[in-house]
Amino acid sequence: MLWIAIVLKVTVAAAYSVLCPTIEDPCYRYNGPLEIPDMDTRHPSIKIETGAYSQDVYKLRFGLWYISDFPLTSAVVENGNCGTKFPSWINGSTLKLGDGYVNQTACVKDFFDACANTYTVLAKNWGYYYVYCFWALPYADQRFCMLT
Ligand SMILES: *[C@@H]1O[C@H](CO)[C@@H](O)[C@H](O)[C@H]1NC(C)=O
Ligand SMILES: *[C@@H]1O[C@H](CO)[C@@H](O)[C@H](O)[C@H]1NC(C)=O
Repeated sequence: MLWIAIVLKVTVAAAYSVLCPTIEDPCYRYNGPLEIPDMDTRHPSIKIETGAYSQDVYKLRFGLWYISDFPLTSAVVENGNCGTKFPSWINGSTLKLGDGYVNQTACVKDFFDACANTYTVLAKNWGYYYVYCFWALPYADQRFCMLT
């Protein structure tokens, strides 16, 4: 029984390491990875009714890995776009294949400042998809925008 457990453990560890190779990452806890919810309203050009605004503080689980075909937005997003009041954008370039894991700075746009708050997102471009670890907790009415 013991060797079966060991083989299982090694196999599972290998599967985990594909997405979360370093234990130092704040997102080392393997979880799937998860799909990012409500992708249909995350594009920076999308404006929806205020009553339908979505808030990542309730939608994302922080410190877990997410997967997406799409990059985070790297340009300032106007308030009210991207399906929320205070959209966030990455102050930095879109990740390229070969960049490895990068701690990117997400800025939240409020009514006065393009970068009123900053949060870190650990991300990697894997070629066919991106993986993201969101590990700071935004306030209400904030959301990550994506180039869907
Ligand atoms: C990202 O930042 C966290 C927290 O500071 C750090 O532990 C981690 O090593 C960083 N990862 C990369 C790839 O820079
Ligand atoms: C984006 O980051 C750069 C470099 O850290 C900084 O100089 C610049 O002020 C930031 N942009 C905004 C809008 O905060």
